[in-house]
Amino acid sequence: MSELILVLDFGGQYKELIARSVRSHSVYSEIWPGRTSAEKIRELNPVGIILTGGPHSVYLPDSLKCDPEIFRLGIPILGICYGMQLMCHMLGGTVQPCEKSEYGRVKARLDTGSPLFNDIPERSTVLMSHTDRVSRLPDGFLTTAETASCPNAACENPALKLYGVQFHPEVEHTDNGRRIIGNFLFDICSAKGDYHLDDYIDTQLREIRRRVGEQKVLLALSGGVDSSVCAALLSKAIPGQLTCVFVDHGFMRYKEADDIERVFSAMDLNFIRVNAQDRFLARLKGVTSPEQKRKIIGEEFVRVFEEEAGKLGNIPFLAQGTIYPDVVESGGKHGATIKSHHNVGGLPENLAFAELIEPLSRLFKDEVRVLGRKLGLTASITERQPFPGPGLAVRVMGEVTREKLEVVRMADYIMCQEIEKLKRKPQQYFAVHTGVRSVGVKGDDRTYDTVIALRAVDTSDFMTCEYTPLPHRVLSRIASRITREIPSVSRVVYDITSKPPATVEWE
Ligand code: XMP
Repeated sequence: MSELILVLDFGGQYKELIARSVRSHSVYSEIWPGRTSAEKIRELNPVGIILTGGPHSVYLPDSLKCDPEIFRLGIPILGICYGMQLMCHMLGGTVQPCEKSEYGRVKARLDTGSPLFNDIPERSTVLMSHTDRVSRLPDGFLTTAETASCPNAACENPALKLYGVQFHPEVEHTDNGRRIIGNFLFDICSAKGDYHLDDYIDTQLREIRRRVGEQKVLLALSGGVDSSVCAALLSKAIPGQLTCVFVDHGFMRYKEADDIERVFSAMDLNFIRVNAQDRFLARLKGVTSPEQKRKIIGEEFVRVFEEEAGKLGNIPFLAQGTIYPDVVESGGKHGATIKSHHNVGGLPENLAFAELIEPLSRLFKDEVRVLGRKLGLTASITERQPFPGPGLAVRVMGEVTREKLEVVRMADYIMCQEIEKLKRKPQQYFAVHTGVRSVGVKGDDRTYDTVIALRAVDTSDFMTCEYTPLPHRVLSRIASRITREIPSVSRVVYDITSKPPATVEWE
């Protein structure tokens, strides 16, 4: 069992970044609710605690508080932003609204005598985002950083092993932020750094074998990173006992379904590809509303999956590629119920599975990718871009037809080929069939044909994103290839909208 850093959540948007940053130092971390009792924490026996930021004001009666006893456990604590304010407020300091809120990167002077700022330049740029500040520290605390408008930008009570930073060391915009977290882990919590993904694999292999014994497991394989890595792990744990059902709805990218079949047919598992393309297209005939399309695809997926599961007879275990952010976002600590936000539609709750296996439910996406590579999956699978469950059906505006799918699939393929030559690739990029026709001229002929849109975005979490300013020469090459190689495309446009106000997908 690895040493644990407990991240207590007070609603801050960066809680997952904090937990990931800790793990990047080979120290295991988990996110727990801010109100977790001191008794429970003692039982979990963490080597350190981090209090996250949050949107509230600590001095308001309804704001989220922690158990005051946690400050007396003798476990080192680092409070970040709201976390620092909470610690100071609960220990007798004063928190007040700032005269002027501080947002963005600001210059700070750090006390390099503090173990938290060991080996960090005294003058550093940090990311601030706060409307309240600690105006008076609790007894026994001293200031360890200041900015022009925040005299207590960091504080500590070394005797009680309590530390606070008003700024956000977990984000890239803070100079040496990763190092500050490392100082907390190693110099203050004396962590050993004993968390390694190889151990995770070994533990999961043992655990899966113990739970499953000689019985059978069914996995709905979408071909996305999570379910693929889950399949690879299970096929290693219980070779021969796993069946993977891959429903090909016909909305995959160029050759993608065949790739999935090739990779997984070669593994020690029973791979079933269900060619349901015609069924899905038939159900979408005449449907133009985006929500309606998604709903129909979700329902049809469940129907096909149920039919296949029925043919296989009684399989007691259902495996899912649920990952840690799914668990954290659904509010539970460990996923106990079938994920409602399944890749495609949501598996029905009444499927007759006695137990659920979610071997990735403690891992972040980047860890899942590393695990996949350790299990022998190729980068074409582990580095796959996010892809919506309803696939190309939501990248064809209006009614989905076989012809439109062919066009968008080829345009997407050409775009991917060109982008893959670049050193720095956007996080997600794809082509959209706009459903709009426009006048063009090819050779001596006037055309009236399809407009394809290109989309490329950069983001850290897909909740918001910026469009990627792809170089013009790359865009020109993609546009000329698409109009040359796909006769029915007359025009190519580039989507330069960020999210918000747009979403990543067009539907
Ligand atoms: P939006 O369009 O909501 O997309 O800005 C944000 C991210 O989510 C992906 N996406 C989906 N992923 N099932 C998924 O697994 C879906 O139904 C779905 N819809 C959108 C999208 O590609 C982007 O990465």
